[in-house]
Amino acid sequence: MNNKPLGIGIIGCGEVANAHVNEYNELRDQCVLRAVADVNRESAFEFVRHHPSDIEVYTDMNLLLQRDDIDIVSICTPPYLHKNHVLKAISQGKHVLCEKPFVPTLADCDEVLRATENTNLKIGVAMQLRYNPDFRKIKQLIQDDFLGHIYFAEMRGLYWRGNSYFKKAWRGTWEKGCGGVLMNQGIHILDLFLEILGPVKSVYADMETVKHKTEVEDHIRATIWFANGTRGELLCSLNVADPEVSMCFSGHDKTLRFPFKVNEVHESFNGFPLLGDPNKIEAIKKLDNLQSDKVNEHDELIKDFVRAIQEDREPSIGGLEARNSLEVITAIYKSAFDKEIVKLPIRDNDPWYSRKGLITNHKTIS
Ligand SMILES: NC(=O)c1ccc[n+]([C@@H]2O[C@H](COP(=O)([O-])OP(=O)(O)OC[C@H]3O[C@@H](n4cnc5c(N)ncnc54)[C@H](O)[C@@H]3O)[C@@H](O)[C@H]2O)c1
Repeated sequence: MNNKPLGIGIIGCGEVANAHVNEYNELRDQCVLRAVADVNRESAFEFVRHHPSDIEVYTDMNLLLQRDDIDIVSICTPPYLHKNHVLKAISQGKHVLCEKPFVPTLADCDEVLRATENTNLKIGVAMQLRYNPDFRKIKQLIQDDFLGHIYFAEMRGLYWRGNSYFKKAWRGTWEKGCGGVLMNQGIHILDLFLEILGPVKSVYADMETVKHKTEVEDHIRATIWFANGTRGELLCSLNVADPEVSMCFSGHDKTLRFPFKVNEVHESFNGFPLLGDPNKIEAIKKLDNLQSDKVNEHDELIKDFVRAIQEDREPSIGGLEARNSLEVITAIYKSAFDKEIVKLPIRDNDPWYSRKGLITNHKTIS
């Protein structure tokens, strides 16, 4: 393990960059933030004013990338720029921690993955819910076959955003935001849902722009048929004033929910459910103790990424893992536009593998 402090650069000094700098500062014995870059000079200077340290400010990210004393670059720019920014950083020999959504298309993702082949560079993607302790516990229980076959699975990403959220020009657009509530918010919980349930066979979806004056969807639902036989349901909306980010997995007689909750029933003589053995349920519920270990997930993400470089291993979520949710999102958008069941995988001759499918279809959403 190499203990030399890692030099850090941040590209894009908007809202999310604060989460990155805070954790790099926490890890100050292992990381030194040396420079930031933003095309908007004012944003960059405002950003460093809030994070006192000896930080160089650039408006041209290439100057930051040319520095030999920067090992890790956090990409915190709008989604449509990620591919080019990640490729530039890799070409300068930098490890990259990229904000979600990683890249807009499968073609972009495969291009980035090819560019990192035969290098020792690490790519991390900011899907920080992976570090949520409730998720880890549920994943472990399901791997241990606690539920048996999962018949029913559901995920909800219900959020609320006001109109001024969309004042940033990239948000609410297909071209720059690369999608709506599914691509930008629901992606986090979808990533966990897929990590638990495994490969997807096919999807059927519909979507609408119900409330906001955006070209992208603010409401979307999908049925997801998993290869293991589970029937999954997805619902995401930006129009719910009581937000909820949740999942439910149900086997024959037990249910696990995220945030962590467990239940068990028995069948009564006439087929109705009776509450299971209270002692057993109590024992299972003790697993709730885990909820006391709340963590800041973005901090855990950055710690894991730094450790992955120090230990020369892959971070918990990199480009390959991000490709899974991107492929399912691509299939869901394709299904919602074409109004038909879409089978996976999305092959490289499918118009939706690149932007072609979206470009020919996206005007038809409303
Ligand atoms: N992981 C999470 O939970 C989470 C939360 C919020 C945002 N995000 C993601 O982070 C990314 C940024 O979101 P944000 O809300 O911080 O956006 P933002 O608009 O607040 O910030 C983006 C910054 O990038 C700068 N920028 C634009 N083009 C640039 C270029 N060519 N070179 C350098 N800088 C450039 C802008 O001037 C702006 O300061 C998005 O992909 C978003 O989806 C992730």
